[in-house]
Amino acid sequence: MPTVPEYSDFVVDRKDLKSDLQPHVASRKSFKTFLVEGQTYFYCTCGLSKNQPFCDGSHTQLKGYKPLKFTYAEEDKIRGLCGCKLNKLEKGPFCDGSHKKIDFDKITI
Ligand code: FES
Repeated sequence: MPTVPEYSDFVVDRKDLKSDLQPHVASRKSFKTFLVEGQTYFYCTCGLSKNQPFCDGSHTQLKGYKPLKFTYAEEDKIRGLCGCKLNKLEKGPFCDGSHKKIDFDKITI
């Protein structure tokens, strides 16, 4: 199992992020990612990480952003993690299809 970096400053719900700034769109579609049952991850909410979909500490460049800590509770599987960082329905790390409704050419970041 790969080592996952630990971060001491994080949120467990994206609604707890306190920022007036829009996140950077890391990808216009989800990141297909193999997740391991019982493994804890630090998902990048700011979109600036070079280690998508996970945090690499770059969020210090975007005020108010922190990684989202979550422990994957289902069986080992490839899952779609939100790449646009703009999911609306699901405040966790998983893609909810929001990227299909966004006109990326009209949003400013
Ligand atoms: S939350 Fe994006 S780099 Fe940490």
